[in-house]
Amino acid sequence: MTASEVLADLRRQGVTLWADGPDLRFSAPRGVVDAAAVSLLSRHKPELLRLVASPSEAAPEAAPQPPPAALPLRAPAGFSLDDDVLSLAAIPDWVLEDQAPYVRHVSPYKGFLYGRMGLDKTFLRGEGCYLVDADGHRYADCIAQFGAVPFGHDPDPVWDAIVALRRERRPNLVITSISQEAGALAERLLALAPPGLAHAVFSNSGAEAVEAALKLARVATGRTGILSARDGFHGLTLGALSATGRDFFQRGFGAPAAGFNYVPFGDLAAVEAAMAARPGYFAAFIVEPVQGESGILPAPPGYLREAQAICRRHGALLIVDEVQTGLGRTGRLFACEEDGVTPDVMVLAKALGGGLVPVGACLYTREVYRESFDLRHGSTFGGNALACRAAMATLDLLTRDDQALVRHVAAVGRTLRADLDAVQAEFPRLVAAVRGRGLMLGVALDLDQAGRAAGGIISAMQQQGLLLYLVVSYLLNVARIRIAPSFTQGTVLRIEPPLVADEAFCAAVAAGLRRVLAILERGDAGALLAHLIAPGAPIPAEPASPRKAPASPGEAPATAARFAFVVHLLGPSDMHRFDPSFARFTTAQLDGFRRRTAPFVRPFASGALQVRDRAGREAAGELLVIPHTPEELLALPGAEARDLVQRAVDLGAERGAAVIGLGGFSSIVSDGGLALKAPPELRITSGNSLTTWTALAAVERACAARRMPLEGCTVAILGAAGAIGHALARLCPDRAGALLLVGNPRSAQGGLDRLEAIAAACRAASGRPVRATLDLDALAEADVVFTATSAVAPFLRGTQLRRGALICDVSRPKNAMPDLYAERPDLVPVGSGLLRAPAGAALDRLGECGQPDVLVACAAETIVLALSGHRDGHLCGALDLATIEAIGRLATQAGFAVVE
Ligand SMILES: Cc1ncc(COP(=O)(O)O)c(C=O)c1O
Repeated sequence: MTASEVLADLRRQGVTLWADGPDLRFSAPRGVVDAAAVSLLSRHKPELLRLVASPSEAAPEAAPQPPPAALPLRAPAGFSLDDDVLSLAAIPDWVLEDQAPYVRHVSPYKGFLYGRMGLDKTFLRGEGCYLVDADGHRYADCIAQFGAVPFGHDPDPVWDAIVALRRERRPNLVITSISQEAGALAERLLALAPPGLAHAVFSNSGAEAVEAALKLARVATGRTGILSARDGFHGLTLGALSATGRDFFQRGFGAPAAGFNYVPFGDLAAVEAAMAARPGYFAAFIVEPVQGESGILPAPPGYLREAQAICRRHGALLIVDEVQTGLGRTGRLFACEEDGVTPDVMVLAKALGGGLVPVGACLYTREVYRESFDLRHGSTFGGNALACRAAMATLDLLTRDDQALVRHVAAVGRTLRADLDAVQAEFPRLVAAVRGRGLMLGVALDLDQAGRAAGGIISAMQQQGLLLYLVVSYLLNVARIRIAPSFTQGTVLRIEPPLVADEAFCAAVAAGLRRVLAILERGDAGALLAHLIAPGAPIPAEPASPRKAPASPGEAPATAARFAFVVHLLGPSDMHRFDPSFARFTTAQLDGFRRRTAPFVRPFASGALQVRDRAGREAAGELLVIPHTPEELLALPGAEARDLVQRAVDLGAERGAAVIGLGGFSSIVSDGGLALKAPPELRITSGNSLTTWTALAAVERACAARRMPLEGCTVAILGAAGAIGHALARLCPDRAGALLLVGNPRSAQGGLDRLEAIAAACRAASGRPVRATLDLDALAEADVVFTATSAVAPFLRGTQLRRGALICDVSRPKNAMPDLYAERPDLVPVGSGLLRAPAGAALDRLGECGQPDVLVACAAETIVLALSGHRDGHLCGALDLATIEAIGRLATQAGFAVVE
């Protein structure tokens, strides 16, 4: 596809593309830009940038305003909780039936996901900085309702203030009259706030206070434009959401509303440029002193001051959102004190309610006051007496002893910061940054690095965007520390305990972090997940034998041809093989865990494979793992199973594979690969050609070695209606004495008819005896048995087989019962469709039979195609005999040898 075709195609589907400097940005209806489209966009990015920048092309997209905020085009990093998971299919009813009422009725989706990750705790009591569950376990609370629990969970003085209101029999709700409590609270707040703030309007939440601020700015300036910082967070009501410059929150809700624009956080030049570009347009710039939701990012020193100067020059107001930072959180009563500014408007909420009641406030200067706002803005519950009394008690607690508590926050915050800095120094590969102020701290983890270094399940979890949640789950369940992951930037742990947290509390938090980082550092998925894999059981020790991951071959040369090979679990016990740190668990424990997590685990890339052939050509690749067993794949509705394979293929394409091979049932459920979509330059192969060739070659050699010419043998083919069996059925008549095509005894008459038709064609072509049957006992006639079926479990028993028969079992999972050869030592296993790779190959978990250089032929075919660049013939669906020969030849030339 050319870039113009890609552009036209996307536009037809409602995608809007535009250039933003060197970035290509897009907005699209949900679901349109899938991984394959992203890979196309990335590939054609330079041409597309040129096309959308040229006036004739840009015309259809010209918008009256700068386009709404969109994130720079990036390949989706796989499944992540804060992204695609929210668009998954509805939770089935049966899952919800036995859930708590909260999950059933309030938050089925989040409840379900949290449950699967062990994050669904119920707390019965709050005790200061700790929450207590039904088992009496105490959890250190570093979330504290994102700052709304300043004095811990049972703040007596705040309760006392509420009880006093009752004792005094004060009315709570007196709208249209004069509220003494609201007046007193306003007076007190304004006295404490930066000088110059003169009025207050109360709300029931932070978002509502932000709404008030936005309306005030518009009415005070007579302008509509609102500028805010990208990735900031101001609440989720539509106006506040429009200022929240984050696609994740806005998508699907008709946000942003008209008039909202964004600049990068911390970039004053961008504020200046945006305002200068549209004189008289912007009413206000709204910003947080420390971005909380997006991963605890403090503004650079002087930022608010300079931003206010820019606003002044352009006739706009500065709104400082202190909903999270305000009231002591950063070690100052208000974070903007740091810059010595009095914002035109300042918003507060969270801590103002003392951890008990919802209350917010929007404070503003005399210059901003407008009668029309005063008259027409308000809320039924805003400024109710109960909330105001709680807020007054909060201010008392914060300011008593000359703001001792705020100074405590600064001091404890410094100690905790130093401890977290030390943690970073201990784990420099894992901790990318520690940042924040006071008790609003963020620990940014480099989980990509952790995933890459650990491989196995840890890498898989990181690719799915789940690793941070699993770290949080470990901290909660094992270290008993509640820490929130940043919901915006996928890698930050937010540490915001109650302001009254002491040094011992903070030291325990740092110790918990050290524990989980040590686990990540040694790549011990078993320890990280033990509480989920074996819930309630004592955490098993690490297995005595050190973990043995396959040796990594190191960086592949850039010139190496890229390939990928789709695999799935062959059975529950495969989990052990997949991550050596799982040795401490039983198969049942692992399988239970896998089933619980399967609904939100997508195919993931794993391992590093490298092969250099005789001619010095190199190929590098990886496995694309579908975490399902054959039974599960077959039990899924066909489209869903196909979709899983398609996702694996998309992932491989996105990661640069030029050839993708389909291992195991991934070929079966995708119609031998025919049902899959891929860009034309990507080759998909079922791998069946080389499997067929290898099986035949191994049997021919074994016959020759035994002086047992194939021409004199009766050859049986089990699974002759499948691609490999059918190809063998066409290849064998010329070579074998007699041929027996054996179908699945459970298949209907149609199965036998099809087999009869194949037999008739073979008879006609060769003139030799060819018979079709569904009777497995007929195998007793065969000297050689090829078995290539899609049975999900072994079934081939010794009682069905002739003495001394050669058995070539290319099925995965194998068709031969595990004890077949022990029970019947006369039988001769031949080849099983295996090849030995050229010397020096690194095959990761592909290594078969305990031999690191032996692999299944379908994987070898993928590598051979990558090495040779061969692209002719049928690689998917029904096989053609010429392609089988050609690929067999190429494999031999490349140095692959048949294993007998
Ligand atoms: C900076 C900021 N502004 C506004 C809000 C919205 O507050 P609320 O959740 O009370 O609506 C939040 C909440 O996290 C916030 O952090």
